[in-house]
Amino acid sequence: MAALTSANTNTNANANTADAGNELQAAQQRRIDALAPWFHNLHLPSGVQTLPQHFLGGDFPNFKWQQIRQFVPDDLRGWRVLDIGCNAGFYSFELARRGASVLGIDVDAHYLAQARWAVGEMGLQDQVEFRQMEVYELARSDERFDLVWFMGVFYHLRYPLLALDLLAAKTRRLMMFQTLTLPGDSVYANTADCAIDDRTPLLESGWPKMAFLEHRLAGDPTNWWAANHAGVEAMLRSSGLRVLERPGHEMYLCTPDDSDASARHRSLYASQLNAVFHGGDHADG
Ligand SMILES: C[S@@+](CC[C@H](N)C(=O)[O-])C[C@H]1O[C@@H](n2cnc3c(N)ncnc32)[C@H](O)[C@@H]1O
Repeated sequence: MAALTSANTNTNANANTADAGNELQAAQQRRIDALAPWFHNLHLPSGVQTLPQHFLGGDFPNFKWQQIRQFVPDDLRGWRVLDIGCNAGFYSFELARRGASVLGIDVDAHYLAQARWAVGEMGLQDQVEFRQMEVYELARSDERFDLVWFMGVFYHLRYPLLALDLLAAKTRRLMMFQTLTLPGDSVYANTADCAIDDRTPLLESGWPKMAFLEHRLAGDPTNWWAANHAGVEAMLRSSGLRVLERPGHEMYLCTPDDSDASARHRSLYASQLNAVFHGGDHADG
């Protein structure tokens, strides 16, 4: 009889737990609907997802993360991470799960509302902070970051090299960079110089270049630039970064280039960057 009572108690407890789980999932789904539209498909610990039928196909951006994850250290304890254009926080959460302290920034209040709700659902509120910010506003802060996560934003920027120069200067160890590119992977052999009266090499497919998008790409007027692969690598180098790996299509893992040659190259535009960082203070006042 005692065994029967105990079995009944267990069954009731299991049913109560299942009810509580269903209620949680239903409440989360209501919140997800209220916060729509989503761009990131987040997997909440309860099993609920924010955008399981993604318009980019598959489980986005998880399928991208699966390509990159082995290129990022497993243990990020003690690392300070900056996630630019964090959107609903998918990458901020993955990096925080590895132990990092993360600052996610985005201009869009709508996406930040999603991120701020999701961080509690993930139980990561002690490790991740979200701020509404323009990428260029980082020029006003002295903080540097061990890892700068710069995925899916460069081509949305009207002033892309300004942002890249700012962020390269803020990178202590690694930058994960991704941008929309032009088709092709060719790299022109010698870009050291070009004669003023023969600029035809600049038309070669492997010459570093960016297509300017005056109107739209994929219907989106905030897409400004599409660089070719040679152009991406050249801009990363020119901003003081060295490409370590290409974890996947359009993705570049970089580290600061501490060589004298890189420093000499950056000195060519140092005063322009200084004008942005420090309002252009000159020694003569
Ligand atoms: C294509 S989504 C990429 C989201 C995420 N980084 C990823 O790779 O999945 C671009 C994000 O960058 C944000 N963004 C665009 N321009 C920005 C800017 N100037 N400063 C900060 N965030 C920006 C957008 O609001 C959007 O959330």
